[in-house]
Amino acid sequence: MKPVKVRLLLVGLVTALMIAPSALAAVASAPVVDQIPAPTPRASGVISTYTLVVPTSVSKSKLQTRAVIPNGASCPKLTTLRPNGSTKKQKMWLRTPGASTGAAFASIRVCAANVPRNTRGATVGRVKVPFQLPKSIDKIALLADTGCRIRATSSQDCASPTDWPLAKVAKSIAATKPDLAMMLGDFFYREERCPDSAVAQCGGSPAPLNGAPFKDSGYGWIADALVPMAQVFATTPLMAVRGNHEACNRGGNGYFLLMDASPLGAKACAPKDGVVPTNITPSWAVDLPIKAGRTLRAVAVDTAYGLDYEVTPWESTQAVAYSQAAKLAKRKKGRESWMLTHRPIFGLLSTDYSAGSPTFTPWMSADQQAAAQGKLGRFDAIMSSHIHLSQAVRIPGNPAQLVIGNGGTELEPPTGYGIPPYGPLLDGQGNRISPEFEPYPNATWQWTRVQFGFVIATPGKKAGNWTLSQRSPNGKAFAKCSLKQRTVSCK
Ligand SMILES: [Fe+2]
Ligand SMILES: [Fe+2]
Repeated sequence: MKPVKVRLLLVGLVTALMIAPSALAAVASAPVVDQIPAPTPRASGVISTYTLVVPTSVSKSKLQTRAVIPNGASCPKLTTLRPNGSTKKQKMWLRTPGASTGAAFASIRVCAANVPRNTRGATVGRVKVPFQLPKSIDKIALLADTGCRIRATSSQDCASPTDWPLAKVAKSIAATKPDLAMMLGDFFYREERCPDSAVAQCGGSPAPLNGAPFKDSGYGWIADALVPMAQVFATTPLMAVRGNHEACNRGGNGYFLLMDASPLGAKACAPKDGVVPTNITPSWAVDLPIKAGRTLRAVAVDTAYGLDYEVTPWESTQAVAYSQAAKLAKRKKGRESWMLTHRPIFGLLSTDYSAGSPTFTPWMSADQQAAAQGKLGRFDAIMSSHIHLSQAVRIPGNPAQLVIGNGGTELEPPTGYGIPPYGPLLDGQGNRISPEFEPYPNATWQWTRVQFGFVIATPGKKAGNWTLSQRSPNGKAFAKCSLKQRTVSCK
């Protein structure tokens, strides 16, 4: 197929994914293509373009621009404006998915180029892309757990902006004009074929490739992330963290192709000797200058694997990532550190999940609690997601724990949150989850809201102090948390 046909097909698909259920019902019996107003193909031929925040070992400016293009097209150029007013045209290099992804990723390819330092503007194939991190950061957006959940048994209504509000969240984030966005993982939720009973909710959602040892696809990522997050991509550099939905047997192929800049590379999930890898990206960090003498070091830890309720042998592999993180968060005058990790170390699930079991503990995630033990002392806060709500927890002697997992995917039960009888690494009867690991002190305070949204973080006057505004998808603040001296409070 010629590239131009692929492009039109993609534009058509993207449009089809966005149409309302009523429109869908009206066209159910007609050839869909005749009913959709002809889109204006982007002159650039670029399906999506965005700029990732990456370590300086990858790009000196801490920024790398990506462009998603139809397979068969050539990579566009990254054009940047230099401080002296001249323009620079850079070749983008091609990132290719593993050959084993076959038809699932046959439709797209990804191009990349590092943004030069001191860039004053940037375009990819005539589309503007974020090109700088300001000298002084004063607004950070945080979001996570964003995709539209599709299951054979029950699905979200991917066509409804109230049931799946990611596009609204993205629009509101863009309107806030943050300096960067931190995406804490779990982009991909279209892990099953839309059931026949839910055509009005998710009909047309790209299904996983039959028989493949993974769940994602190029079209799946277009629908679940690239289209709904477009307004963030157009305006805001994105620091992406890998979630468990980006494990190699789930959405990992797309994650490594699109969102990751680690040494593991775009083919990191390709099976080895027929086995899908269980891998972990090395922890990495980026320094975000806040104001004179003050820097936020954001340290990303990959927690795609590990169990939530048990300590397993994965703990020893995971512990290496926490040791790397502790080293990266070494204390230095003026430096404050946040850990960005998908699975919370001190997150609370609803007791509605207990199913009457007396040993049930709402504390998540046991493998992380064990692996991180003794390695959190240098962090001011742990920014996580994974539980689909917004939460703040205080554990004496430990960093403030924030859970920001309310970006669009189906929310947790509305009730059942409180301080449990025992702390992390103890079960509901006070028994150790694992004999090897010392339990943590119990929480002294928790705050939980089960509603969609995102967080806007702004630095306070004193070192280590931040205000975290909890926003609903339309951008309205519904609560305010403050971070002071490793302690969080919300109202
Ligand atoms: Fe999630
Ligand atoms: Fe998760």
